[in-house]
Amino acid sequence: MDTVVSGIRSTGNLHLGNYFGAIKNFLRMQSENNCYFFIADYHALTTHPKPEDLHGNIKQVLAEYLACGIDPEVATVFIQSDVPEVSELYLLMNMNAYVGELERTASFKEKIRKQPDNINAGLLTYPVLMAADIIIHKAHHVPVGKDQEQHLEMTRRFARRFNMMYNVNYFPEPDAYNFGQQLIKIPGLDGTGKMGKSEGNGVFLSDTPAEIRKKVMRAVTDAGPTAPNQEPAEAVKNLFTIMSVVSEPSTVNYFTDKYASCEIRYGDMKKQLAEDIIKFTDPIRDRINELLADNKYLAKVVGNGAEKARISASRTVREVREIIGYKPF
Ligand code: TRP
Repeated sequence: MDTVVSGIRSTGNLHLGNYFGAIKNFLRMQSENNCYFFIADYHALTTHPKPEDLHGNIKQVLAEYLACGIDPEVATVFIQSDVPEVSELYLLMNMNAYVGELERTASFKEKIRKQPDNINAGLLTYPVLMAADIIIHKAHHVPVGKDQEQHLEMTRRFARRFNMMYNVNYFPEPDAYNFGQQLIKIPGLDGTGKMGKSEGNGVFLSDTPAEIRKKVMRAVTDAGPTAPNQEPAEAVKNLFTIMSVVSEPSTVNYFTDKYASCEIRYGDMKKQLAEDIIKFTDPIRDRINELLADNKYLAKVVGNGAEKARISASRTVREVREIIGYKPF
């Protein structure tokens, strides 16, 4: 069985982009692979959450993971900070990660632009911690969204570099996995770019039907097509992309034809889209709320998960220490 690792940062509720970009693949992989799915709560510290919010954020993402169908009886579900071995591997891997390559990482450059007042070293070495998360379980596949491809490339580079440096064939080089299709990028409702947790352009799995209707009805469009078979503007294309994952193909075809013949009414399309999103998220939201109320169950899940993850993580750290040359006296 191949090993699969993936994580999501606990920095806000999960949205449709997380579901269709990552979690959907987790679900397809969990029964056929040895899966480790975790909540990246160390990574979440790069944006300095308040201590009084940290635990609630983690709990929310945990409940959302499980509500989506991740089965802790099948996959190992755990919290990153419950497995301190990862921080040791991170330290060791930092010695072979070069500042130049870290500074050139797209996500780091984006952070410099977005949060110029908090460019901490954790942001710079974010890809090293992520690599440690992955190689600590000697993963083969990492189901992630398109935005994580460069981090995966760096993970492979760090793994290869370690193998070369110590002349071993120890770490496999993991790939970004998406069932052979292109990695799916779910756009936001604001006309440009991908759906994000903090961009204010997302539909969360925990949103109520009223919230979903309001958000979708406010989504950016344009003045409408002016000639038959026009290429839609990005904002309109984005609505079609979201529709393609939540609606029936016949619905998508209907509105595609209406667009092509310049008869589309965006209001109708948005109403339909909102209802189709609600149909999809409603059962998930109910389950999230049930799980949030069952702390005992959540505690059991993460307790078992940490125990399993630490078995694999501590073995890797022990072996890596030996490879590096640490010896007992
Ligand atoms: N960087 C990922 C994100 O922002 C989260 C993450 C952290 C991750 N460690 C990981 C994903 C290891 C996959 C594997 O979405």
